[in-house]
Amino acid sequence: ASFEGGGRRAGEFPLVRPRRLRTTAAMRRMVAETRLHPADLILPAFVREGSSEPTPINAMPGVVQHTRDTLRKAAAEAVAAGVGGIMLFGLPLVKDAVGSQGTDPEGILQRAIRDVKAEVGDDLVVMSDLCLDEYTDHGHCGVLDARGRVDNDATLERYAEMARVQADAGVDVVGASGMMDGQVRVIREALDAAGHQEVSVLAYTAKYASAFYGPFREAVNSSLKGDRKTYQQDPANAREAMRELALDLAEGADMVMVKPALPYLDILRQVADAVDVPVAAYQISGEYAMVEAAAANGWIDRDAAIMETLLGVRRAGAGMVLTYWATEVAVRLRGA
Ligand code: PBG
Repeated sequence: ASFEGGGRRAGEFPLVRPRRLRTTAAMRRMVAETRLHPADLILPAFVREGSSEPTPINAMPGVVQHTRDTLRKAAAEAVAAGVGGIMLFGLPLVKDAVGSQGTDPEGILQRAIRDVKAEVGDDLVVMSDLCLDEYTDHGHCGVLDARGRVDNDATLERYAEMARVQADAGVDVVGASGMMDGQVRVIREALDAAGHQEVSVLAYTAKYASAFYGPFREAVNSSLKGDRKTYQQDPANAREAMRELALDLAEGADMVMVKPALPYLDILRQVADAVDVPVAAYQISGEYAMVEAAAANGWIDRDAAIMETLLGVRRAGAGMVLTYWATEVAVRLRGA
C-alpha cells in the first residue's frame, strides 16, 4: 500500500492500527505490560516518641507523625490492604551529637519495631531506616569529626550498632540509607556476628542529594542546616550510581534502591537491567507533596496522577515502590 496520495481501497491503509488494542477498558487491561499490585508497595511511616495524638505534617497533607498506638493501627490497615511492607522512621525526644537514641534498645524506633512486629507478625515485611539523621542534633546522617565533617569510618561503627539493636528488636529488613562508604558490609557483618543472618539489607544504592527531600525534613523534625552533598550523590551523575551498585552488591546487599524515583527513572532502568536482586524505588516526600499540592489547587486529577507516577516507576524497572500512598493505593487496587 502506498502511504501517500489517494486511490486507496477501503481497509488497505493503515494496515496496522495500534488503536485496536486501546478500544475498551477490558482490552487495555488485558494488554497492559505493567501492573501495580498491593504487595509491591511499601509504606514509609513516622513514629514520634512521647506523643499522645498523631501530629500532622504540613508539607505532606494526609501523612502524620504517628503515636505508638496509631502506628500499630496503620500497620494493621496496611496488612488488611495487602501492602507488601512498612518502613519505619523513629523521631526521638532527645537528640545528641552521636545520635544515642538510635542505638538505645529502648529508643523509639526499636520500640516501634517491637510494636509493629507484635501487631502484624509475619504478615507484613517490617523494615527500619538505618541512619543517624533523625537522632543527631546537627541533623547529619553520621557523626562529625573535629572539623565538623561527616566522619565516614566513625559513622560505620554507629551503623553496626544500629543494625544490631534494630535486628534485636525483630526487624526483617534494615534500610541502609546513610550513603557512607562501606556501610553495607559493616552492617552485614554486624548482623551476622549477632546471630541475625536472616535479617536482610536493603541498600539505598543510588541516593541522590535531592531538593525533593524537603517535606521529609519537617516530617522527622530534622535539625539539619546545610546539605548532604558530601555523602549523597550528585544529580548530574549516572555512572556513579553503577559504581555504588557494584560496591553494594559486593558488600552483600540483598536488595537495592534508587531514590528519589521520578527524577531518576533513567537510573532506575539502568540498575534494573544490571542486577539479579530485587530493585526498589522510593517515591519521596517531595514527589508526594507536588502531587498533593497540585491536586489541592484543582490543577491535576489526584487519583489518576498518583497511579500514573507509580506505574511509571514500576515501568522503569522497580519491583517495589516505597510510597506514602501505599495503603490508599492498595485499597484502590483491591477494589478495582
Ligand atoms: C535518611 C532518609 C531520608 C529520607 C529517607 N531516609 C532523608 C535524607 O536523606 O535527607 C527521605 C525520604 C523522603 O523524603 O520521603 N534517614
